[in-house]
Amino acid sequence: MGEKINYQADASEYIEQLPRGAFLTVKSGEQQNTMTIGWGTIGYMWQRPILIVAVRYSRFTYELIDKAAEFSVSAPVDNRYNKILGRVGTESGRDIDKFKEYNIPLQPGKTIDCPVISDCGITYECKIIYRQPMDPEALNPDIRDKFYSNQDYHVIYWGEITAVYKNNL
Ligand SMILES: Cc1cc2nc3c(=O)[nH]c(=O)nc-3n(C[C@H](O)[C@H](O)[C@H](O)COP(=O)(O)O)c2cc1C
Repeated sequence: MGEKINYQADASEYIEQLPRGAFLTVKSGEQQNTMTIGWGTIGYMWQRPILIVAVRYSRFTYELIDKAAEFSVSAPVDNRYNKILGRVGTESGRDIDKFKEYNIPLQPGKTIDCPVISDCGITYECKIIYRQPMDPEALNPDIRDKFYSNQDYHVIYWGEITAVYKNNL
């Protein structure tokens, strides 16, 4: 654990933005990708600030994050990214380089070996400390039927927040 991180400061703004979309960016080897997320959690566990993301098996992002140690999340604080969030939330990094296609500017993470979007609001850098495939048997049946009728479950990634900052140009 490094210095104390003031992860609470922007948490309510993040939680408000999340259902409208944030970018989850991952890197594995030479491959990097970003996709839109709408679900997640922020909190405190194991004496660490935690950001949780949930990635379905079908995503290209899953193939990368499964091999990665870290990820970043960027949550816009204005409407500039609305259209791009729609695109990167429907198209796959298997087919296109989303960063090039949509001119999404990147910069290196400050505490992780994973890029962050360089002009996009609240930025979280996270180190994965727990990976949790969903257990269908443990899930409320109504939720299971509503969200997982095709068996495409989420894997839940618990990230220790190693840095948080506002990154608007
Ligand atoms: C608003 C919004 C929220 C989304 N939230 C999630 C999410 O939390 N988890 C997930 O696995 N997919 C989510 N998606 C879908 C992925 O972003 C989408 O399938 C994307 O095309 C995957 O890209 P990839 O194949 O490059 O990883 C969301 C899409 C939108 C538009």
